[in-house]
Amino acid sequence: MKVLVVGKGGRESAIVWKLAQSKVGFEIYTAPGNPFTARYGRNVPISERDVAGLINFALDEGIDLIFPGGETAIALGIADEGERRGIAVLAPKRDAARLEASKIWAKSFAKRYRVPTADFEVFTEEEFEDAVEYVKGQRFPIVIKADGLAGGKGVVIARSVGEAINTLDQFINRGKFGEASKRVVIERFLRGEEASVFALADGNRWKVFAYARDYKRLKDGDDGPNTGGMGSISPVVLDDETKALIEENVVRRTFEGLQHEGLKYKGFLYFGLMLTENGPFVLEYNVRLGDPETQAIMPTLEYDFGELILSAAFGNLKEELVEEPKKFSCCVVAASKGYPERPITGFPIEGIEEAERVADAVFLAGVKEEDGRLVTAGGRVLSVVATGPTLEEARRRSYEAIGKIHFEGMHYRRDIGL
Ligand code: AMP
Ligand code: GLY
Repeated sequence: MKVLVVGKGGRESAIVWKLAQSKVGFEIYTAPGNPFTARYGRNVPISERDVAGLINFALDEGIDLIFPGGETAIALGIADEGERRGIAVLAPKRDAARLEASKIWAKSFAKRYRVPTADFEVFTEEEFEDAVEYVKGQRFPIVIKADGLAGGKGVVIARSVGEAINTLDQFINRGKFGEASKRVVIERFLRGEEASVFALADGNRWKVFAYARDYKRLKDGDDGPNTGGMGSISPVVLDDETKALIEENVVRRTFEGLQHEGLKYKGFLYFGLMLTENGPFVLEYNVRLGDPETQAIMPTLEYDFGELILSAAFGNLKEELVEEPKKFSCCVVAASKGYPERPITGFPIEGIEEAERVADAVFLAGVKEEDGRLVTAGGRVLSVVATGPTLEEARRRSYEAIGKIHFEGMHYRRDIGL
């Protein structure tokens, strides 16, 4: 069974690591991959933006399944193209991928199917003045979101009228994220704890298989700018009532809504939730697994994840495989100095082997090999993951392990899992 994983980050490292343990016996290819994924198979130098190139390679090489890690290839229609050319892709098609690719579409969808989500208004490029008038009448903070994909940077929590107007000007008039920010959603600020819920679907049926939390801010105590994610834990322990509300009011209504619209959803669906005193609300949908949640989740799965994804990809979801995790996991991300604005890279990384002796895994991300040495090559460089019978033990081990790693300018949060 040949699988082509698409991506090059920590999430894809964790996916490849887990697939390599499967009894299915995968032959693993990663495009473009990183030095970690190369240990488990072959890296193929094709960008995740090059959908035609990926499909051509898969057909030439006799790949059985394409597994895109991130949203880029999915939003570009890799599942549609795979279907057209006769190759299985574990991802939704472009029409369903609008759940992530357009916040306006996602919010309207949630409203149509009574999935709890913050009250909102939509403003287009022509409606800049209306948006300004609107925010003047609101209570603060208020949340402004670019409609399209903005690499996780398209959400601003504005604390004053001035900040809101400035953000609207940046997004709509100055096109900070190009076309993606010329239309915006303005929504109510919700208070509570966040949680990420992951489901897998086969086109007809779905199954929730993991609960996690990510830490998006750069600095300890949830301070500093938003990042792609500085750490994560899994599972998140929730009471039965909360879980039932999530699975009925959020997950079920979403999948039934998709079916109602004739959108056969295949692949992972990630629900970013705020657990408020009025129950769970959807903050966002992502049509893929999370990064760095995946790094925390994979080591907690004791069933055959490879078998599970194959069953979903080929339309016969084996939901009975899914088990509640029996251990806790803590993932700490090490980032380059200057991340997320302007990461400074090119420094040798020491201590990975020592860390691997303590942790469950050290998943590489922004790393390349140069003259036989690993050097930093991106904002988020690697993530160290450890598991344990309690979150405290998982946390202790992951921090012991990351303490053995060093590169110039290395930054990581000290409070993941606290
Ligand atoms: P999103 O990409 O929509 O998940 O937003 C990124 C982050 O912004 C979320 O993880 C939350 O921390 C925060 N956020 C988004 N929407 C809201 C909201 N309505 N109320 C409070 N925080 C929000
Ligand atoms: N952990 C956030 C994301 O993957 O979008």
